[in-house]
Amino acid sequence: MKVLWIFAHPEQRSLNASLRDEGLRALTEQGHEYRLSDLYAMNWNPVVSREDYALDPDERLKVAGASATALTEGRLSPDILAEQEKLIWADAVVLQFPLWWYGMPAILKGWFDRVFTKGFGYGITDSGGKVLRYGEGTLAGKRALAVLTVGGRESAFGPRGVNGDIQHTLFPLQHGTFWYAGLAPLPPLVFYSADRMGEAEYSTAAKELRRRIETLGTTEPVPFRTQNGGDYDEDLVLKPELAAGRTGPDVHLG
Ligand SMILES: Cc1cc2nc3c(=O)[nH]c(=O)nc-3n(C[C@H](O)[C@H](O)[C@H](O)COP(=O)(O)O)c2cc1C
Repeated sequence: MKVLWIFAHPEQRSLNASLRDEGLRALTEQGHEYRLSDLYAMNWNPVVSREDYALDPDERLKVAGASATALTEGRLSPDILAEQEKLIWADAVVLQFPLWWYGMPAILKGWFDRVFTKGFGYGITDSGGKVLRYGEGTLAGKRALAVLTVGGRESAFGPRGVNGDIQHTLFPLQHGTFWYAGLAPLPPLVFYSADRMGEAEYSTAAKELRRRIETLGTTEPVPFRTQNGGDYDEDLVLKPELAAGRTGPDVHLG
């Protein structure tokens, strides 16, 4: 498989960097090809500029003052295009980060903000004008695995844990970003109590990471419902007979 590994951690001596190296070694040993986007090492610019935004096809002609060359040629900035090209190349994406304030580090959020542009990550329609999202779109057919470390213990991220259910914390990424853009999200790989990992725990974590890489191509994706598969009505509301009487993020699991 061709794997794009996106890594967001500022410190090369961190737990995250060790796990990344372990994961990349496993990919090579298992005969996969990979490309790495190490966002801090690349000095990735996470802030959508007025010009980036203006390059949204519908908007670009309306904005005065943006670079004339970019506007007339309709080109996206080269750093955005390079990431889009890597995504097109890949069969699977591994997204690795430490959980910071219930979400991804800003540099990684800004990777999505800038790379998932209109016509690429969203705003795609078929010839009949139907909007392709939630399971359909440019990236459909590719898989995505989130690998994250968290400070909290596993129980505290359980269904009644004080931090809330980790599956709900990750809903905006798994459903609102990966699945929205067509990527099939795999069950996330979460390393808990990451600030208190000793050698034994690290060795278990490394084995688990290797196992998840071995099964990257075969693990069943999270069974989110497709938007256009008949489960939602014309207002994009789940039909009443499905997950009857229930609300919340879990109703979108088929
Ligand atoms: C800015 C910041 C915010 C954090 N927010 C959370 C959080 O919301 N939930 C949590 O469980 N841990 C949180 N942590 C702990 C980190 O997830 C933890 O330190 C990290 O995963 C350990 O991996 P590392 O040693 O590679 O950085 C936070 C840490 C930092 C620095």
